Amino acid sequence: MNSSDTYLVTGGCGFIGSSFILLCRKNNKADIVNLDALTYAGNPLNLAELQNDSHYHFHKGDIGDKELVASLLEQYKPDAIVNFAAESHVDRSIFGPEDFMKTNIMGTFHLLQVSLDYWERHCKNNPGKRFRFLHVSTDEVYGSLGSDDPPFQETTPYSPNSPYSASKAASDHLVRAYVHTFGFPGAITNCSNNYGPRQFPEKLIPLMILNAREGKPLPVYGDGMNVRDWIFVNDHCEAILSVLDKGTPGETYNIGGNCEKPNIEIVRAITGVMDELFPDSPHVPHSSLIHFVKDRPGHDRRYAVDCSKITRELGWKPSMTFEQGLNHTVQWYMDNPQWVGSVRSGDYLKWLEKNYEKRS
Ligand code: NAD
Ligand code: DAU
Repeated sequence: MNSSDTYLVTGGCGFIGSSFILLCRKNNKADIVNLDALTYAGNPLNLAELQNDSHYHFHKGDIGDKELVASLLEQYKPDAIVNFAAESHVDRSIFGPEDFMKTNIMGTFHLLQVSLDYWERHCKNNPGKRFRFLHVSTDEVYGSLGSDDPPFQETTPYSPNSPYSASKAASDHLVRAYVHTFGFPGAITNCSNNYGPRQFPEKLIPLMILNAREGKPLPVYGDGMNVRDWIFVNDHCEAILSVLDKGTPGETYNIGGNCEKPNIEIVRAITGVMDELFPDSPHVPHSSLIHFVKDRPGHDRRYAVDCSKITRELGWKPSMTFEQGLNHTVQWYMDNPQWVGSVRSGDYLKWLEKNYEKRS
C-alpha cells in the first residue's frame, strides 16, 4: 500500500478504529473514509483533531446499509476496507445479545456482499488495482485456555463461549468463506485485549482508572485470577498496517502483546500508579477500593496469543512494555476530563447500574 491509497475504515470512531485512523493520518499513510454508526461506543471527539484534514472523510451510517456502503465504494474506490465496526463488550452481549448478531454477523455479511461486488467490478481483473479486505477480530473466538495450555495459534480450533465471541467467530467464518468460494482478497486478524487512550470506560482498565480516581469501588469479577494477554492499542494498529501492506490474502494472523496477566495484577498495578500520582488523595492506598464481586457468567479463564507467525512472516512485534503503556494510559485519562465527561452519558450510567447491581 502507498501514501496515495484510500482506506474505508468502519467503526473508526471507536477505541481501536480511532487509534488506527490517527496513526494513518499522522504518517500520511492513506486517505481515510470513516463509516461509523455512532453507537454509544462511537465518539466523534476521538477524531476531533482531524476536523481540518482534507484527507479524512466521515460518514455516519451502518455497515449493514448496503446502498450506503455501495455508494461510498463507488465514490471513493478504496484500496482497502478495514472492518472494525462491531459491538465489542462481552458483558453487554450477555444481557442483550441481539445488537451483536445484527452488527457483528449480519452487518459483516452485508459489508462483504457489497465489497465482493465492488472488487469483482473494479479490482479483480485490473492488475493496477491492489485491493484488501481486513477483518479485525478477537482471540476470544478460540475459547478459554487452561493454565498449562499453549497459547492460541492460528490453527487452534474455534470454540467461542460468549454471545460476543460467537458473533465474532461467525463473522470470521463468513470472511473465510468469501475468500475460499470467490477468491475474495480478505484476511483476518485475531488480537488479544487492547488498552490505551480513548477506550470506553466500561472495559476493565479505564473503568478501574476512573473509579480509583473518584474513590469508587473497583469491582473485580470472581477471584480475579482470569488471565488476559494485554497489548497497547498502537501496537495492534501497527500490526494491522503490516497485514495490509505485506499480508497474504486468505491468511489469518494472531496479534498479541506477549503480556499475560491475571486481572487482579492489572488492578493492583493501576492502584499503584494512582498512589504515585496522587499521594495526597484520601483514597491512598487505592488498593483498599478493590472489591471482589459476582463473576461474569461463562467467564473465560485464560487467553494467551502466540503471535510468532506475524513476527516471522511480516516482521511485526509489540513494542510497548506494559508499564510504559499503563502509565501513558492513566495519564491520558487524567489529562482528558472533557472526553471522560462526554462519554459518561445517561445511558452509560444506566448500564453501569444494571451490570454491577447483578454482581453485588
Ligand atoms: P468499540 O466498541 O470501542 O468501537 C466500535 C465502533 O463501531 C464504534 O465507533 C461504533 O459506533 C461502531 N459501530 C458499531 N456498530 C456499527 C455498525 N452497525 N455500523 C457502523 N459502525 C458501527 O470497539 P473496539 O474496542 O474499538 O473494537 C474494534 C474492533 O476490534 C471490534 O471488531 C472488536 O471485536 C475488535 N477487537 C477488540 C479488542 C479489544 O480489546 N477492544 C481486541 C481484539 C479485537
Ligand atoms: O480478548 C479480546 C477482547 O478483549 C475483545 O475482543 C473485546 O472486544 C474486549 O472487550 C476484551 O474482552 P474482555 O471481556 O476480556 O474485556 P473486559 O475489559 O470486559 O474484561 C477484562 C477482564 O476483566 C475480564 O476477565 C473480566 C474482568 N473484569 C471486567 C470488568 C469490566 C472485571 O474483573 N471487572 C470489571 O468491572
